[in-house]
Amino acid sequence: MAFGYPPPVLLTREELRYDVGSARFDLARDRDLLAWIFSQALYGEATGCYCGATLYTAPDIDAATFLSRQAVEEFAHFRNFLKIFKILGAKPSPPNRVIKFLSSHERLWDHHVALEMALGEGLVLVAFYALEDAVPHPEVQAILASIGRQEEGHVTFGEERTLEVLRETPRRRRQLLGRCLLSVVALRFLARHVEKRLPAGHPVLSQLPRFLEHVLRTTEIRMQRLGLLTGSLSEIGFLRRWALIANGLFWAKARGLFARRRPRIPGSYLSDPVVERVLAGRPEPVVA
Ligand SMILES: [Fe+2]
Ligand SMILES: [Fe+2]
Repeated sequence: MAFGYPPPVLLTREELRYDVGSARFDLARDRDLLAWIFSQALYGEATGCYCGATLYTAPDIDAATFLSRQAVEEFAHFRNFLKIFKILGAKPSPPNRVIKFLSSHERLWDHHVALEMALGEGLVLVAFYALEDAVPHPEVQAILASIGRQEEGHVTFGEERTLEVLRETPRRRRQLLGRCLLSVVALRFLARHVEKRLPAGHPVLSQLPRFLEHVLRTTEIRMQRLGLLTGSLSEIGFLRRWALIANGLFWAKARGLFARRRPRIPGSYLSDPVVERVLAGRPEPVVA
């Protein structure tokens, strides 16, 4: 597993990018709107910092090292979003409840890497790319570009580790699919909620319904390429969807009750792959 930050594996930057065309925000006119949008991002970063809690369930030292570095990066993102607020001359506000729901912490390792990292940070990445294109301010764009590169690394890690879980424990596919379907339902709910409140005729925000469809489409492709979804989301009927969601929630709760309260590494470090790698003098993964 690589520590460097390669481009995303399962979806290319081109696939993830939404084309905003020539539409741009106006920093003075749209200050309150942008402050609302960046407030959601700030909350995501504030909760992203707690990927550190996943150190307890990390299966090996490479994964734990990655998460430690990720926590530092999420704190840096938090500070960088505050710099954007300073540029805007605005103050952050509390998050929307759907954003809160989508940012909730997963205690189980497989649910964390699939839902929070591959899917959750994957859709955040699409939003950051679109904002980078639509906010015409060089400093804001540079901040979003540098955060985006690091988020690509987080998504890639989530994808790789989800694929690993599914290779080793294929029966987890059904519960992870159920959890992903609930995120899709929440996204559709958010789309409807935001659509009703859109200011009429805004050049960027009038594209929001189409943007959210793009986010859902990239989420669907990621689920397919992870092997969680065969066919398309639209082929899953109402009853089957809610049965899968109920199954995913049940297993998250049930397994959460018995989830380990002690970190895994103190019990496994002597047989950790890093030990043999270092003793054999093989190269360590490159830290970007
Ligand atoms: Fe982040
Ligand atoms: Fe992240």
